[in-house]
Amino acid sequence: MRVINMGPDPSLAYRPNLEKNQTKDKEEYRNFENGSLIDRVFNTYKLMHTNQTLDFVNKKHSEWTGCTHTQMGIMDAVMSLDQLVDESDPDVDFPNSFHAFQTAEGIRQAHPDKDWFQLVGLIHDVGKIMALWDEPQWAVVGDTFPVGCKFQNSIVFRDSTFQDNPDEKNPELNTEYGIYKPNCGLNNILMSWGHDEYLYQVLKFNKCSIPEEGMYMIRFHSFYPWHSHGDYMHLCEDKDLRMMSWVREFNKFDLYTKTTDLPDVAKLKPYYQSLIDKYCPGILKW
Ligand SMILES: [Fe+2]
Ligand SMILES: [Fe+2]
Repeated sequence: MRVINMGPDPSLAYRPNLEKNQTKDKEEYRNFENGSLIDRVFNTYKLMHTNQTLDFVNKKHSEWTGCTHTQMGIMDAVMSLDQLVDESDPDVDFPNSFHAFQTAEGIRQAHPDKDWFQLVGLIHDVGKIMALWDEPQWAVVGDTFPVGCKFQNSIVFRDSTFQDNPDEKNPELNTEYGIYKPNCGLNNILMSWGHDEYLYQVLKFNKCSIPEEGMYMIRFHSFYPWHSHGDYMHLCEDKDLRMMSWVREFNKFDLYTKTTDLPDVAKLKPYYQSLIDKYCPGILKW
């Protein structure tokens, strides 16, 4: 078992000072301007925004989406996140799998009737398992954005991290639409490669029956330029706009359920295993 540093995943790293029973104001999350982790976060985004090109993403799709890597049940994959200790977070020092159960339990409280939504909370970050298989962190964690068209200003560190990306110098990829057609739909867009797209592809490949709303949450939860800044609407189709409110509903729990009050995972596991058995049973191909 290998413990790796998950590094500066901003969705994990920016929950500072979560002392027991202490709550944070929502504005204090996702601070990309200062704080003790800013250098490490910046360096990861610099690597991501230099290397995530249209060619790179196409290469990753052919490498991962055939799901020839291994075979594993979802619960084992969730628990493998225990090896992923986010050492970039100075205030919350516990395994990543707790984040999975905390997100799921937050959703269960607010949406007791939507078992598929609770399951999405549990599994949404499982694609980070790629980092255990030697994928660099800049190709696993962090916010996502479309490649193949102009990088919009809503992308974090837009001004300071893209100057060495070869696509930035390709005029064909630097228009509003780039290689895409107006309102072609997010399903037809290539996103920067990361844990969102990977898990979506795994679930699709294995014919899991999570409803479309849940699949959208999984696939686009790190697409902050879209769901939190309202950007890239010119590429969206009507369905994307309908699904956006679900992604935003999910995002509340992903960001704000992390506390030092750790859930009793052993006690919760049977309930969540029953949801796995219902929507994505057995051994999956990864
Ligand atoms: Fe995530
Ligand atoms: Fe998450």
